[in-house]
Amino acid sequence: MINIRPATVDDLLSMQNCNLMNLPENYQMKYYIYHALSWPQLSFVAEDQKGRVVGYVLAKMEEEVGDVPHGHITSLSVMRNWRRLGIAEKLMSQAQKAMLEAFHAHYVSLHVRKSNRAALQLYRDTLKFSVHEIEKSYYADGEDAYAMRKQLKEDAEGAQHGRGSKSKPLNGREGGHSH
Ligand SMILES: CC(C)(COP(=O)(O)OP(=O)(O)OC[C@H]1O[C@@H](n2cnc3c(N)ncnc32)[C@H](O)[C@@H]1OP(=O)(O)O)[C@@H](O)C(=O)NCCC(=O)NCCS
Repeated sequence: MINIRPATVDDLLSMQNCNLMNLPENYQMKYYIYHALSWPQLSFVAEDQKGRVVGYVLAKMEEEVGDVPHGHITSLSVMRNWRRLGIAEKLMSQAQKAMLEAFHAHYVSLHVRKSNRAALQLYRDTLKFSVHEIEKSYYADGEDAYAMRKQLKEDAEGAQHGRGSKSKPLNGREGGHSH
C-alpha cells in the first residue's frame, strides 16, 4: 500500500536520499528547505506501509516579471523497486492540482534530459506535457534538455509564450536546480 501525502520538513532528508539514489542532479539541503518553507503545498511524498519514502515530487512557483504565475517541477523520482505502479503519475497530478488551487498557476514547466525515455513517456504520453523548446547543454555534462510545459488554466494567456525557469543545474552533488 502506497500513501501519497504533502511533504513536510521531516521528509526532506528522505527526499534528498531518494534524489541521490535516482538522479545525477542533486541539491543542497537548503534548497529542499527553501521549497518546503516557500511552497509547503506543492511537494509530495509517496510512503510505503512502514512510512518509508519511496518517491517524491519537489515543486515550486515561478513568478517572473512579464510572465504569468506558473509552477515548476524541480525534481521527481521513484525508488527502483516501486516503479511502474503509477506513483510518479499520482505525485505529479497532486502537485499540478495544488499549483492550480493554491497559486492559480497558469501552466507547469519542467526540464527533462533528451535521453530520459521513461520520464519523457511519463510527461508527454501520460501527463500530456508538450515540448516548449530545447535548451542546449542545459545539464552539467552537456546533455540537452527538453523544456516541457502543460497548461493548467483554460484561459492561460501567455502560457505557451512566456519563458520558463531560467535556472540551470550546477554540477554533480552540489546545489543547483532542476532535474
Ligand atoms: C521517471 C520515473 C519518475 C517514473 O516513475 P514511475 O512511478 O515508475 O512512473 P509511473 O508508474 O507513474 O508511470 C506512468 C507512465 O509513465 C510511463 N513510464 C514510466 N516509466 C517508464 C519506463 N521505464 N519506460 C517507458 N515508459 C515509462 C508509462 O507510460 C507509464 O504508464 P504504464 O506503466 O501504464 O505504461 C522513474 O522511472 C524514476 O524515478 N526515474 C529516475 C529519476 C528520473 O528520471 N526522474 C525524472 C527526471 S525528469
